[in-house]
Amino acid sequence: HQKYRPMPTFKLADRKWPDADLSHAPIWCSVDLRDGNQALIEPMSVEQKLEMFSSLVELGFKQIEIGFPSASQTEFEFCRRLIDENRIPADVTIQVLVQARKHLIDKTYEALSGVTKAIIHVYNSTSIVQREKVFKLDKAGIIDIAKQGAQWVMEGAVAYPQTQWQFQYSPESFTGTEVDFAVTVCNHVIDIWQPTPQRPCIINLPATVETNTPNVFADQIEYASRHLKHRQAVKLSVHTHNDRGCAVAASEMALLAGADRIEGTILGNGERTGNMDIITLAMNLYSQGIDPELNLGSIEQHLEVFERCTQLPRHPRHPWVGDLVYTAFSGSHQDAIKKCLAIQKDDQPWDIAYLPIDPADLGRDYEAVIRVNSQSGKGGIAYLLEREFGVRLPRWLQIKFSQIVQKVTDQSGREVSGELLYELLWQHFGSL
Ligand code: KIV
Ligand code: ZN
Repeated sequence: HQKYRPMPTFKLADRKWPDADLSHAPIWCSVDLRDGNQALIEPMSVEQKLEMFSSLVELGFKQIEIGFPSASQTEFEFCRRLIDENRIPADVTIQVLVQARKHLIDKTYEALSGVTKAIIHVYNSTSIVQREKVFKLDKAGIIDIAKQGAQWVMEGAVAYPQTQWQFQYSPESFTGTEVDFAVTVCNHVIDIWQPTPQRPCIINLPATVETNTPNVFADQIEYASRHLKHRQAVKLSVHTHNDRGCAVAASEMALLAGADRIEGTILGNGERTGNMDIITLAMNLYSQGIDPELNLGSIEQHLEVFERCTQLPRHPRHPWVGDLVYTAFSGSHQDAIKKCLAIQKDDQPWDIAYLPIDPADLGRDYEAVIRVNSQSGKGGIAYLLEREFGVRLPRWLQIKFSQIVQKVTDQSGREVSGELLYELLWQHFGSL
């Protein structure tokens, strides 16, 4: 991926975190069908979940958290249908969430019986507020819950030897927990699971509520990366929420601080202000020359599925994939884009003012790049007429005609289409 040259501000050599490795994609885990789904006004039906699962597979996710099968009949049934109808490709691992409670863990194994491989994701809350106000437990009590959960998860797997199991633990509300205590809890879990590089476990550190700046979160991840036991046998995962609007930045910096794996959702659906938006992070990496290892060239057809199943429309200015993000209305932007496009060579790095990537990489075209409204200038008008009707205006006519268009757009306050421009041109200068 030589297409984009690294931005001058993105200097890996200057990184603060020596373990950082941002030369390749992280392990992605989509939590759309669990965290995303639990935040919807109307949770998805089994059929909708099946459709979304197929989209996630086509997009290239190799790990997909599919739900909380011990928590509801719909979730249980969805899990069974994936397994019974052989819908899980060989290179995809499904993940399920469960609390550290024995009967729920047993039910989870039942839901997964017969699956080829799966990740059991067990969690309990560790934060000060949850300890003091919700569970009324001290630190030792919280450690006991985590250890019990880890033990039950390990024991449950014994009854299903035909499945390749992987275990994941989250100290939920990590961001409200003293970081050294959170790591101590994780280390107790690691002691029980005894992972090896061949059979690693996953430790997932969630910004359940985003309370800090991304650099502070990254410092916490760095601390964990340095203090977790059997680090070579642990995949360090992060799961950021977007309460301060920085979930993507926090995950991105966590990667620089040593995280191996990222959980998030497509377009950032999730509790409150959402989960970390995987598409934005993946495209951020892509634009820095790092292959995100997701099939983003066909993203449009999948976004249509996500919007329909979640009933959440995409903002027209959503980073990278909004309808308007490759469109310029202002005259000076149009002029610069036009000049750069005219000399861009296919074999050279993409280098177009105001267009950080080639929209074609996301399956988009240039048709919408230049559009005309009251903010546009003669360059944009000339560009549209030439592109859509092959009409080339001499410079003096561009100036005169743009004054007429300006009046029309000022009065209407609206955008003008290529057809309307052509009509106006004909009306005013047809006799020339
Ligand atoms: O946000 C969170 O803490 C979670 C956990 C269950 C990982 O979704
Ligand atoms: Zn979450």
